[in-house]
Amino acid sequence: MEGASLDAVKAWVQQTRHIAVLTGAGISAESGVPTFRDAQTGYWAQFRPEDMATEAGFRALPQRVWDWYQYRRDLLTGVAPNAGHQALAVFAQQYPDRLTLITQNVDGLHQRAGSVGVLCLHGDIFENRWLDAPRNCCHIDHAVAGHPPYCDRCGNLLRPGVVWFGEALPFATLEAAQHAAHTCDLMLVVGTAGAVYPAAGLAHQARAAGARVVVVNPAPSELDGTAHGVLHGTAAEVLPQLFGAG
Ligand code: OAD
Repeated sequence: MEGASLDAVKAWVQQTRHIAVLTGAGISAESGVPTFRDAQTGYWAQFRPEDMATEAGFRALPQRVWDWYQYRRDLLTGVAPNAGHQALAVFAQQYPDRLTLITQNVDGLHQRAGSVGVLCLHGDIFENRWLDAPRNCCHIDHAVAGHPPYCDRCGNLLRPGVVWFGEALPFATLEAAQHAAHTCDLMLVVGTAGAVYPAAGLAHQARAAGARVVVVNPAPSELDGTAHGVLHGTAAEVLPQLFGAG
């Protein structure tokens, strides 16, 4: 349903005690970061992200998957947070107890905009961890450069510190996100297709617990039917209007 106007949602933002914001790749689009399912370009256009973002995909072709993450890391070093990230960070600095920010993004742009305590459901692309349970020899300074780097004693591989398809989300982070979904008065769902669970399930949980749910997305999403309102605009346009002082 699309019954809410920008002004109505802005009034909800001003009135509500606690807002949970769930973001996805779309919030970083205006920073120049391709969304997850869009915009594989150049060499990478021939691969489906869904095939590479799995443990099986990494084990089959670790070099290719590592290089893909390296390409995305390099891309991120050249971009900056946009007005959408900034609007959320400024609001939380003004009202630290009123906003919980939950993201599926691994790009670190919310944190670079100044948001603290971000609940990163899918990890952090700039972190690495061992693929297999680390043995005594697996210290990070024993990792020999390569793509991927590996332990020079046992051959264990480093992998990106992100959540791949089929993997569990970090337990405490998911629990905190679910708590926010159950206790917020308003959930804003920004820039996500709403197709990947359990993240998308947070919007259903918020609605079932009595919160208003509003989607911000220029295109239809799978959560539109769950929402009390859909604002068809981009994150960098809409969020400053919702969270701005004016
Ligand atoms: P998707 O790439 O599936 O969807 C991006 C969404 O952003 C789409 O609904 C677009 O319409 C919307 N969008 C595009 N530009 C926008 C803009 N400027 N402002 C607002 N919205 C915009 O990305 P996600 O839904 O985030 O997980 O994908 C969820 C998860 O799927 C990812 O975190 C990733 C993948 O599995 C893992 O890697 C574990």
